[in-house]
Amino acid sequence: MNMAYFNGEFMPLEEVRVSPMDRGFLFGDGVYEVIPVYGGRLFRLEDHLDRLERSMQAIELSNPYSRERWHGMLDELVGRNGGGEQSLYFQVTRGVSVPRNHAYPHDVQPTIFAMTRASTPSTTVTPMAAVTRHDNRWERCDIKSIALLANCMHKQAAVSLGANEAILLRDGALTEGSSSNVFVVRDEVVSTPPRSNAMLAGITRDVALELMRDAGIKVEERAVTGAELCDADEVWITSSSLEIAPVTTLDGEAVGTGVPGKVWTQVNDLMQGLKRTLMAA
Ligand code: PDD
Repeated sequence: MNMAYFNGEFMPLEEVRVSPMDRGFLFGDGVYEVIPVYGGRLFRLEDHLDRLERSMQAIELSNPYSRERWHGMLDELVGRNGGGEQSLYFQVTRGVSVPRNHAYPHDVQPTIFAMTRASTPSTTVTPMAAVTRHDNRWERCDIKSIALLANCMHKQAAVSLGANEAILLRDGALTEGSSSNVFVVRDEVVSTPPRSNAMLAGITRDVALELMRDAGIKVEERAVTGAELCDADEVWITSSSLEIAPVTTLDGEAVGTGVPGKVWTQVNDLMQGLKRTLMAA
């Protein structure tokens, strides 16, 4: 049975009921996180809770739970769903408020929802096909908002073209993917855009940066142009669901030699090694 958490209670996912007056439902007024679970443990939990805190502060939503309470609840949910490898999703919305009114209501209880799904760690590499798109989203992409319609539109445009991801460019510069961060490699130097309001500060992005710096791989956080993206030897996308995934075609053209690259192979091996250690611990 797939167990979820809703406002203080654990229950089967299909029994969760949300009010139509919830501001998450009416306005997309809420924030979320997705955390991978390896060996029954939430990977980089503190980093995800730090980012949740930043997202909540940005929308003036006070955190309803202490760190301890988040830990307890999320760990229990993972345990109730059998541990192992999972992908945990949770969100906090501003809560139920009547009548509908754009301005933030006072004295409202936030709605807290969490669910997990089993994830089968794949042993095979799935090369990704990406298309480039104009990034027409708002200027607070650093907030992990549940209001994701623009991201959905970009993802769907990619899928309609037979691709898996849309890589977004604003004013000629790379921002991120519709649900991922992006890295490019040229002459064995890895580059990724620096953190800004134009993108989400991905936790997997940080993990990849750490692994590369520790391994002595040359990596730069700097603006990356569309031309550099198109001329790259390798392109990767990172997220909590995909880990570090190689993009082998961009707008229908091969990236580099059209197969996952040498630097990606090295960094992915480091990532898989880290996961194996966590799963064995
Ligand atoms: N998305 N940028 C965007 C727009 C994202 O939606 C995500 C992740 C990332 C990568 O962040 P992280 O490495 O912390 O997962 C970057 C999640 C997985 C999702 O919406 O399902």
